[in-house]
Amino acid sequence: MSATFTITTNSAEETQAFGAAFSAVLPAGAVLILSGDLGAGKTQFVKGLACGLGSEDKVTSPTFNIMHEYRALGWPVLYHFDLYRLDDSAQLDDLDYFAYLDNEIITVVEWGDRFSDALPGDYLRLAFSFGAGNERRITVSARGSLSTRALAAWD
Ligand SMILES: Nc1ncnc2c1ncn2[C@@H]1O[C@H](COP(=O)(O)OP(=O)(O)OP(=O)(O)O)[C@@H](O)[C@H]1O
Ligand SMILES: [Mg+2]
Repeated sequence: MSATFTITTNSAEETQAFGAAFSAVLPAGAVLILSGDLGAGKTQFVKGLACGLGSEDKVTSPTFNIMHEYRALGWPVLYHFDLYRLDDSAQLDDLDYFAYLDNEIITVVEWGDRFSDALPGDYLRLAFSFGAGNERRITVSARGSLSTRALAAWD
């Protein structure tokens, strides 16, 4: 991991706004691995991300069906996974998970750090944690050259 930064938000709307702004630095094929407890704000961030990527599709946690695809002008712009309900990483192969990570579409994965053997070589990690009240802290770090460049572009 190289440089990191932490931002603090005080409402769901602020977390969405960060997601929308952050979408601007993401290169084609970027992978975002989101970690943090239930209710920490991961899905709120993804709402902003989808909006920033031009999609008007409704964003919800894909907890039961594992993956949602969001489109803009008919084209996929974001794949949204939630691995919370997966029992083991072997199931990821059945979902074609690695094929989704390894293409030109941006992919965001809630609970993406659940299986350490399933992390890609290059990704942005966003760790969500709780502050007082509605405060949330989001710490962003990068692994791999593509993601490290994206992080530098945010600065
Ligand atoms: N600063 C904040 N950022 C994001 N959400 C906030 C904030 N303050 C309050 N909230 C509320 O916290 C909840 C966050 O829910 P969200 O679905 O985004 O969590 P999650 O991390 O995706 O949880 P899960 O692991 O269950 O999918 C929402 O009800 C939202 O309104
Ligand atoms: Mg969620």
